[in-house]
Amino acid sequence: MIDNAVLIKQGAEARIYIAPFLTRKAIVKERFSKSYRHPILDKKLTARRVTQEARCLHKCRRSGLDTPVVYFVDIENNTIYMEYVEGKTVRDILREQSDDESFKSKNDEMANKIGMALANMHVADVIHGDLTTSNLLSRDPTGSLVVIDFGLSYVSILPEDKAVDLYVLERAFMSTHPNSETMFASILETYRKKYKDSGPVINKLEEEAENEV
Ligand SMILES: Nc1ncnc2c1ncn2[C@@H]1O[C@H](COP(=O)(O)OP(=O)(O)O)[C@@H](O)[C@H]1O
Ligand SMILES: [Mg+2]
Repeated sequence: MIDNAVLIKQGAEARIYIAPFLTRKAIVKERFSKSYRHPILDKKLTARRVTQEARCLHKCRRSGLDTPVVYFVDIENNTIYMEYVEGKTVRDILREQSDDESFKSKNDEMANKIGMALANMHVADVIHGDLTTSNLLSRDPTGSLVVIDFGLSYVSILPEDKAVDLYVLERAFMSTHPNSETMFASILETYRKKYKDSGPVINKLEEEAENEV
């Protein structure tokens, strides 16, 4: 039980609360057990996932990405306390827009920020594992792009792992935001420019696309 906590999301693997941490407003992410797993194995797996999430969050932040600050990791209770980021998800921002021309420059700016964040993350060899527009926030009032939800993240140097990250995001864009092809193309353009060893990643991504047809 977490004191003064308000449940904001009940997911398949974790509950998200807003609760105070010392003097700060915090997000509390609590992973829970899967009852079908063996209890000892389950405890180990859950603890590993929590540690991995906290590590990847921290590794990204050290590499210059804007990610929530990790306040405290409670391994015993499979819980991470992190900074509450005031802002909106990129999903909601894009959904509120119409096809109006005036949104074009705003979207270009957003695409640029997303491309930079992904480049930074992959230079640090962090694979996010679940890139969607709900896992990207725009911080108030600066508009800084914050990457969240490192629950499926891991460290890898392999171009194919990085390509899968981009592919998952592309799928998310296509299914959630109609007519976002141009925006995704500019995300990739920034990614390419900012990540000097991105060649093999882009090649893998193109291979993936070819396999599809
Ligand atoms: N640090 C944070 N600051 C503000 N809101 C957050 C933060 N972390 C998560 N959220 C909100 O909670 C939602 C779910 O959190 P997330 O970490 O993505 O968990 P899940 O694994 O259930 O998707 C996010 O889409 C976002 O709206
Ligand atoms: Mg999420």
